Amino acid sequence: MAQYRIVSGSVAVISIQNPPVNALSAAVREGLLLSVRAAASDPLVRSVVISGHNGPFCGGADIKEFGNVSHLESGPHLVEIFESVEALAKPVVAAIEGFALGGGLELALACHYRFGHSEARVGLPEVSLGLLPGAGGSQRLPRLLGVRAALDMIVTGRHVAAGEALKLGLLDRLTDGNTVDAAVRFAQSVEGKPLDDRRLGNRPCPPLENIDAFFEEALIHARGQARGAAAPLACVQAVRGAATLPFLKGMELEKRLMETLMTSGQAQASRYCFFTERGAARWTTPTGARWDTCRARPISTAAVIGLGTMGRGITVALARAGLSVVAVETQEHQLDQAQRAVSRMLKGRGGVSYSADLQAAAGADLVVEAVFEDMAVKEEIFKQLSSVCKPGALLASNTSSLDIDRLASCTLRPEQVLGMHFFAPAHVMRLLEVVSGPRTSPQTVAAAMQLGRRMGKVSVAVGNCPGFVGNRMLKPYLEQAYFLLEEGASPELVDAALEEFGFPMGVFKMSDLSGLDIGWRVRKEEGLTGPGVSADQPMRSRRGRRYSPLGDLMCEEGRYGQKTGRGWYLYDRPGGRVARSDPWLRSFLEEYRARHGLLARRIDQQEVLERCLYALINEGFRVLEDGVAASPQNIDAIYVFGYGWPKHRGGPMFYAAQVGLARVLEGLEKYHKAHPDSPHLQPCSLLRRLVASGSPPIHKWSEVVKGHRSQL
Ligand code: COA
Repeated sequence: MAQYRIVSGSVAVISIQNPPVNALSAAVREGLLLSVRAAASDPLVRSVVISGHNGPFCGGADIKEFGNVSHLESGPHLVEIFESVEALAKPVVAAIEGFALGGGLELALACHYRFGHSEARVGLPEVSLGLLPGAGGSQRLPRLLGVRAALDMIVTGRHVAAGEALKLGLLDRLTDGNTVDAAVRFAQSVEGKPLDDRRLGNRPCPPLENIDAFFEEALIHARGQARGAAAPLACVQAVRGAATLPFLKGMELEKRLMETLMTSGQAQASRYCFFTERGAARWTTPTGARWDTCRARPISTAAVIGLGTMGRGITVALARAGLSVVAVETQEHQLDQAQRAVSRMLKGRGGVSYSADLQAAAGADLVVEAVFEDMAVKEEIFKQLSSVCKPGALLASNTSSLDIDRLASCTLRPEQVLGMHFFAPAHVMRLLEVVSGPRTSPQTVAAAMQLGRRMGKVSVAVGNCPGFVGNRMLKPYLEQAYFLLEEGASPELVDAALEEFGFPMGVFKMSDLSGLDIGWRVRKEEGLTGPGVSADQPMRSRRGRRYSPLGDLMCEEGRYGQKTGRGWYLYDRPGGRVARSDPWLRSFLEEYRARHGLLARRIDQQEVLERCLYALINEGFRVLEDGVAASPQNIDAIYVFGYGWPKHRGGPMFYAAQVGLARVLEGLEKYHKAHPDSPHLQPCSLLRRLVASGSPPIHKWSEVVKGHRSQL
């Protein structure tokens, strides 16, 4: 809806009213157009102010309507409304508080003046929804800012703070006070003044030299960044239209490009990601605890134990969220180094104290243990924490795969023990897996979920099992990649296929980055490594199933990845980042295959994708079956925000639905037949059941899962 009132005798204030973000739903569009017409025809009205009701100006088009053509088609179109705003013969001032995003900023661009609160943000984030600013934004913004600045905003979708927006010329004025009052006063001061020059649709785009070369380069750059997403490229084309075509022709181009994007699977996937991110906050645990029935304990102080890479990142993330943090590292040398590194990352901001003594954790509301992955060491620490920490303090482990329940049983407060699995670098990566064991209390989960939100994370509540959700699913993916090497592929081939799919890094580059020794340590702990020469446990088989010792052999050679300058690739120095092919690896693989009588065969990218991704997806269905993740949406949020799964492909479970569950099942059956000693390729029963139920859409899977679980 839109509220309409006259103030100061001559100013019509139109206020968009659609909480919580004043999105432009059909009802709002209707109201807005009626209000604009009313202002146009009322002789008393000499100027207009458009604002958002109760705070935010406008969060853009109503994303909920996108999947629903009948909603989208009802009510006037944004383009039509914005044309009437721009054409109005009375000055229109946008009063921007909070944020003006997407269609919200496009509305402001159709106004003749833009007033902003000093803390407001503006942006055209459509690209992250697989779209472009399709209500004139791609045509008006370049006319206002020039091509370079507009292209940057449109292709990245970044939010721009008010101060920068003022410098760019996107906002005309800022105020610290009441934005609407200031805008009303300003509107009165420009009543009767000519408006032609203020109408962006009338203006040409500021000229740009070497325009063809500029856009060629922009397209190449966007393609490099897009990882297969179509929207950034369409954004470049639309802005090119603004720079080279008359306004109305540019608008036609924008419309055509938008229609193509809107109906694409990519926009659907990106939109799905928008809602999975937010849906994760409405969590349930495997024991049935829920977000809406649990009160969280307040957390204001935290201790981090162990200041390696993870511990440092976690310290920074907690301090940035406003907690006071005690960082504990018992090795003095490491403590000094960590102190310098953390201060650098925090840019001198306070809030962190350091200690070499675990006793320093005594007063913390929450302790996050982040020592290396060794169960015995962690058990010892939890035992000590249990007696050192104040009653009520939560004890979390940042383990990436170890048993939370075992850690809980070392303490006298198992209901306050949980996993908080951060992803490296912990102060940057958005994902947090909040792991509850069978005895973790709902209040403990609630507190960690709330803290995750304060840190700006996408927190997903998951159950306890080896690897939890993310790493558990990663295991079969990695395993298939190793098997493919044995069968004739190279790390370069496997990585290229996965990068083309949209991962920022293929599996082997990722292993080099995170360190091959980490998995090695876990496998040693599981008793999997070693020569395995006995008849019942030959080198390439463990416990009756296929096993590739390739990763172990690499570690035995001291090839831990980037940190040693050598891994699946070669780096110019230890810690180097630029991966080069390594001829050594080629002969290593050839020798390995010869030793084990393996014949290299030609493997294509499709097989790489199907084997790696279907194995991962299959495990995702098992995770659902076991109740370790509450929903396919939660699994997808984990993969998109923690594992680099491309947003425009929605997440592994969404992708499975998009490919077609029957096709995934068929693929798994085919590969399992060819590799019967690889149980991860054996289709799980939930997948079979979903296919047998006619492959329902993803939001209906939970019903099948429930029925399935009750039969297990
Ligand atoms: N349309 C429909 N619903 C929207 C929306 C939109 N444009 N923007 C936000 N919402 C909903 C969210 O889904 C959420 O709903 P929920 O409470 O049921 O989960 C609610 O509004 C609050 O959003 P949230 O993101 O949790 O709040 P926030 O204060 O952290 O952030 C924004 C507010 C506006 C910055 C953020 O929601 C955002 O970026 N929205 C998308 C803006 C956009 O891309 N617009 C262009 C559309 S083409």
